[in-house]
Amino acid sequence: MGRALVSVIKAVDVAYVRFAVPDMARQRAFLKDFGMIEVGEVDGTVYLRGAGEAQFCYALSLGEPAFLGLGIWAKDRADLEAIAAHDGVMVEAINSPGGGFRARLTDPDGFCVDVVAGQAMNPPVATTTPLAWNEGSNRLSRVSTFRRTPAGPSTVQRLGHVVLAVRDFRTSEAWYKQRFGLLTSDEVQAAPGIAIGAFMRADRGEHPADHHMIVCVQTGGPAGYMHSAFEVASVDDLMVGHDHLLAGGYTAQWGVGRHILGSQVFDYWLDPFGNEIEHWTDGDQLCASDGGGVAGMDVVLGVQWGMQMPSPPEMSA
Ligand SMILES: [Fe+2]
Repeated sequence: MGRALVSVIKAVDVAYVRFAVPDMARQRAFLKDFGMIEVGEVDGTVYLRGAGEAQFCYALSLGEPAFLGLGIWAKDRADLEAIAAHDGVMVEAINSPGGGFRARLTDPDGFCVDVVAGQAMNPPVATTTPLAWNEGSNRLSRVSTFRRTPAGPSTVQRLGHVVLAVRDFRTSEAWYKQRFGLLTSDEVQAAPGIAIGAFMRADRGEHPADHHMIVCVQTGGPAGYMHSAFEVASVDDLMVGHDHLLAGGYTAQWGVGRHILGSQVFDYWLDPFGNEIEHWTDGDQLCASDGGGVAGMDVVLGVQWGMQMPSPPEMSA
C-alpha cells in the first residue's frame, strides 16, 4: 500500500497539460471538437479552457510532437514558496492567462511539473444544469420536462487527471507523495505484493477529491505520457461528444464504458498527433478518511459495462 510520508505541501488538483505539435491549426480544430474553448495566445502558446473556473487547462505550442509537462495547483503562494525551496528552484511570475506564479520542478523521469498558485479564476461558463434521471424509485425526478441533448462537442469542464508511464513506480510515488501529499486510492499490483502503480488523489481532508489526479504506472517500458482526462458535463454530454468526434473523422481509442477504479464513464480518443485524451464523467469522490485499496491489472483495465479495452492491450487508467 501507499507509504505514509510527511509532504512538503498538499496539492489541490492538477491544473493543466502542455503539448507541442507541428500543426497548430490541426490540433486547435481537434481541441475545439473535443469541447475546449480557446482563451488566447501569449508568446506563441495557445491556451484553452473548459467551462470551469480555471483560466486554462491545456496549453499548446508549435514544435515537434511532445508532451511538455503538467501543472499542479498549490493552495497558495506560501505553499509554492515552500516547494520551490525544497527543490531549490525559483518562483517566477507567469504570463499565461490568469497570471500567477510557478515553480518548475522535474520529476524522476524528467517530466516537467509546474507548481502554480495565485492565478485569477474566471467565472464558470454558463452551462445547462444536467436534468435528473427518471430511474428506479426516482422515476418521477423529471416530470413535464423533455430530455433533449443538442448535437455538438462535449462541454469540457476541467482537467481531472494525468497518467504517466514511469521507469520505477516506487521512486515516482515517493517523489509525488513527498511533495504533494497525495493519497493512494488504489495501488496496482502485478502480483500480490508487487506494486507497479497507483491511482493517487489529493488529500483535502474531509472535503472530497476525485478518485485520482495523478496515476503513475511502471509499464516495463520507457517513461512517457499515457493520457490526460477531462471531465465533461454529463453522460449525455459525453455521448453527443462521442458522436461529434466520430463524425469529425477522429480516432476513437476506447469507450464508451464505465471504469471499475474511479467508476467514471469514460471515452478515450487519439488527437491528430497520437496523444491519448479522455472524456469522463460521474467519477468517485473520496475524502481522506476513505483510505485506499489494492487491485490487479484485470481490475485496472476492466470495465463495469461497455467496450472492453482494445487489443493489443495498452495500459491505461
Ligand atoms: Fe483516465
